[in-house]
Amino acid sequence: MTDMVDALVESADRGYGDVAATVERAGLRSAAASLINEILFRAHLEDLAAAESTQVSSVVITLTHRDQEMSALVSVGPEGVEIGRASRGADIPPTRIVQDVCAAAMALYGPRERVTSAGPEIRWPSPRTMLPRLVSGSPPPRLFHAVVQRIAQVLERDRPVHLTDLAVRHGTDKWSFLHQYTQHYQRHFAPLRDRRLKICEIGVGGYGDAEAGGGSLTMWKEFFPRGLVYGVDIADKRALDRPRITTIQADQSDPEALRSMAEKYGPFDIVIDDGSHMSPHVITSFKTLFPCLAENGIYAIEDLHGSYWPQLFEGSEDDLNSPDFTVGFLKQMVDGVNHEELLQNEEKAADPINKLIKGIHFYHNLAFVDKGRNEEGSPFAFALREAPELLGLQDIR
Ligand SMILES: C[S@@+](CC[C@H](N)C(=O)[O-])C[C@H]1O[C@@H](n2cnc3c(N)ncnc32)[C@H](O)[C@@H]1O
Repeated sequence: MTDMVDALVESADRGYGDVAATVERAGLRSAAASLINEILFRAHLEDLAAAESTQVSSVVITLTHRDQEMSALVSVGPEGVEIGRASRGADIPPTRIVQDVCAAAMALYGPRERVTSAGPEIRWPSPRTMLPRLVSGSPPPRLFHAVVQRIAQVLERDRPVHLTDLAVRHGTDKWSFLHQYTQHYQRHFAPLRDRRLKICEIGVGGYGDAEAGGGSLTMWKEFFPRGLVYGVDIADKRALDRPRITTIQADQSDPEALRSMAEKYGPFDIVIDDGSHMSPHVITSFKTLFPCLAENGIYAIEDLHGSYWPQLFEGSEDDLNSPDFTVGFLKQMVDGVNHEELLQNEEKAADPINKLIKGIHFYHNLAFVDKGRNEEGSPFAFALREAPELLGLQDIR
C-alpha cells in the first residue's frame, strides 16, 4: 500500500490527469483502498465511537472512476469503528458519500489550491425513511450527522488540525508533562503543512520493543497531509510501518548508515533529532544529515538537556561553549550566521557551513536550524574591511 500512496501523492502534485493515469495503471480497487484508508485515518471516527453508548451509525464511502466504483461500509458505534461489516444495530440505512476517485486523491494529496470546489456528493437515506422520523419526533441522532460530517470534511480538506491535539492523540511526549515542544513546532512548521515534504525523525520511540513507539511519526503523518515520514531508530521498528510512514534501522552515531539512508530516501525537507540525546551522536547526525537536507530545509534537535547532564546522556556544564556538547556546538553556529560581519576571525568567517545556515532558533530544550543561502552581503563590513573612507573613517586596515 505504501507504493500506492507514494504514487498517488506524487501524481496529485502534478494534477488530476496524472492521478487518473495512476489509477488506470494500478486499478481502481487498489487506489480506492489506499484512499479510504487515508480518509479514515484523518476522520478520527473513533472519537465519535468512544462518545457513543447506544447508537450505531453507518456510511458507505464510494469512490468512482469512469463506469466503475468501489465502496467501503463503515459503522460507528459503542463497539468502535468497523469496516466492511453491515451496521449491526443501526436503525437508519447508511448514508452514501460519493466522490470521483481522482478528485478524492487531489483533495487528500494535491496542492491545496487545486482541491476541487466540488466536494463529495452526499446521498442521505431516502425521504421515505427520514421524513417519518422527523414527523414522529425522533430525528436522527447526532452521531448520524457527525460521521458524515467528518468524512466530508476530510474530502474537502477542511479538518482543523493542531499539533498539540495530535501529540496527545498519537501519544508522543512532544507535548506532555515532560515537554512543551508542539507550540514551537506549530510556529515553524505550520507554513509548510500543505507542501509535499519528506520528514525524517531520528528516534521512533519504544526503544527495544519492536511494536512500541511511532507516536510522533503518526503525528507528523497527520500534520503534513502530503508528507512522507521516515523514522530512524537503532532498534528494528518495521512493525510500525504504515502508508506514508517508513522506518529504517540505523545507529545515529554511524555516519555511513545515515548517509546511505539519506541517499535512499532523501533529500529530507525536515530532520528531527529525538534519538539518544548524547552529544557526540547528535553532532555526528547533524554533520552528516544537515548537508543532505533540502534547500530551505529545517533541522530540529530536541532534549538539549542531554548536553548538560553527566549523570544522563554524558553531558557537561563545565564549559558551556564547548563544541563537543550539543548546545555549545549550536552556539558556535550563531557567530557563523553573522560570518559576513567578522573582520578578524578569518577561520570562523571561512567555515563553509556558515553560508548554508539562514537562522538558528533556541527554545527550552529545543533548537531549530534553518538551511538556506546566507550570503546577503554586508555593506558596513565591506567598508570597514576595504574602504573605511566610505564611512568617513580613517583607513584602519
Ligand atoms: C525518546 S524516544 C523517541 C520518541 C519519539 N520520537 C516520539 O516523540 O514519540 C528515543 C528513541 O531513540 C532511539 N535511539 C536511542 N539511541 C539511538 C541511536 N544511537 N540511534 C538511533 N536511535 C536511537 C531509541 O531506541 C528510542 O526508540
